[in-house]
Amino acid sequence: MAFILAVSGSAIGLGNIWKFPYITGQNGGGAFVIVYLCCVFLIGLPIMISEILIGRRGRRNPVTTMGLLGEEEGGHKYWQLVGVMGIFAGFIILSFYSVIAGWSLSYILRAASGAFTGGDATQIGGVFTAITGVWWRSAAWHTLFMLMTVLVVARGVQRGLEQAVRILMPALFLLLIVLLGYSAVSGQFAAGFDYMFRADFSALSGNSVLIALGHSFFTLSVGICAVMAYGAYLPQSTSITGTASTVVIADTVVSLVAGLVIFPIVFANGLAPDAGPGLIFRTLPLAFGNMPAGAFFGALFFILLSFAAWTSAIGLIEPAVAWAVERRGLTRATAAAVIGLFVWAFGFATVLSFNELAHVRFLRGTIFDNIDYLASNILLPLGGLLITIFAGWVICRNASADELDVGTGLLYRAWRFLTRYVAPVGVILIFLHAIGVFAP
Ligand code: PHE
Repeated sequence: MAFILAVSGSAIGLGNIWKFPYITGQNGGGAFVIVYLCCVFLIGLPIMISEILIGRRGRRNPVTTMGLLGEEEGGHKYWQLVGVMGIFAGFIILSFYSVIAGWSLSYILRAASGAFTGGDATQIGGVFTAITGVWWRSAAWHTLFMLMTVLVVARGVQRGLEQAVRILMPALFLLLIVLLGYSAVSGQFAAGFDYMFRADFSALSGNSVLIALGHSFFTLSVGICAVMAYGAYLPQSTSITGTASTVVIADTVVSLVAGLVIFPIVFANGLAPDAGPGLIFRTLPLAFGNMPAGAFFGALFFILLSFAAWTSAIGLIEPAVAWAVERRGLTRATAAAVIGLFVWAFGFATVLSFNELAHVRFLRGTIFDNIDYLASNILLPLGGLLITIFAGWVICRNASADELDVGTGLLYRAWRFLTRYVAPVGVILIFLHAIGVFAP
């Protein structure tokens, strides 16, 4: 149970509530959602199982584990580079994750003070730009969030948080259901539903498919060796497949509900679905501003969202800290402080992408868009590809069958087939598709 809580805490976060709706809006809705769902179940789930399996077999930090198992299984210790890449990806993701989480923190006070009450789209958009458009405000909240993260990791009190996950995650989900009720009655629910599930594949670009794949990794926290780091603590008696399936289903349900809350509000208020990273901050306050006790529900929602972001942020920095402690001999406190400081500084690239440097655009868009694209859509799928090849082809059949504990029947064969063929081939094809290899 503690393990399910820890992995769910890492998986459920801004990826579900902030990122999923906005990238769905940017990539046209329905078809994107379907590709995302296929990636989650056919690629993300088997990789999550592989990561836990590898982590539990190695029982060290991801870098050491991959090196050790690589050597043991007849390959070589260079597999540890997968762990290094994961640590690097975690570092980059946390740098922008913390900035967005900071926005969520700032919204707690706004909601509580009634800034959204009775507001319309223009007024609420103004609140958003007043925070994100002023670099020092955004930076201050980013700093606060990084401090909160480093403190917990430095003192190694994650265990305490796991207990809180048990109460606060269901609370967040309940609040989403309340919002769903609001969207159902006062929005354009049918239009929102239609947008999310009516698929027009002809409009889906190769790049959108890669974004869907990248997001399936991002939201499940896989491809980055974070789940592997947790796997090291998993007791031998726990079922890996059962645990992974539970987490994947919970994570997916939260994302879909978040989408079904947000798009009806978008259409009811004449907003654009492709508004970008500000989407939830421009839509949800409309719901809070126009429902009974909205100031209370709004503040509570952003408290819970910030908490969900916090538990995910810990999963992003933990592999790096574990590595620095085990391999470099630093104390936990020093490791967390040093790594946190670097992440914090790098976070300014994202802070400034929404104000002073908003005009700087290249490749994928703003500086933030490029950082996110590199980490989420290139590093995570690449990490996932190597992990699935490792679990399916390098680790021998006996070892994985032994670790998975589901016998060698249908379930095991399904996992092995997905891991050896579907996941690696899928990732490679999607990469090729994105760079235009299959373009007419
Ligand atoms: N899965 C988290 C989210 O959806 C983000 C995350 C990615 C956390 C990778 C840890 C590792 O918000």
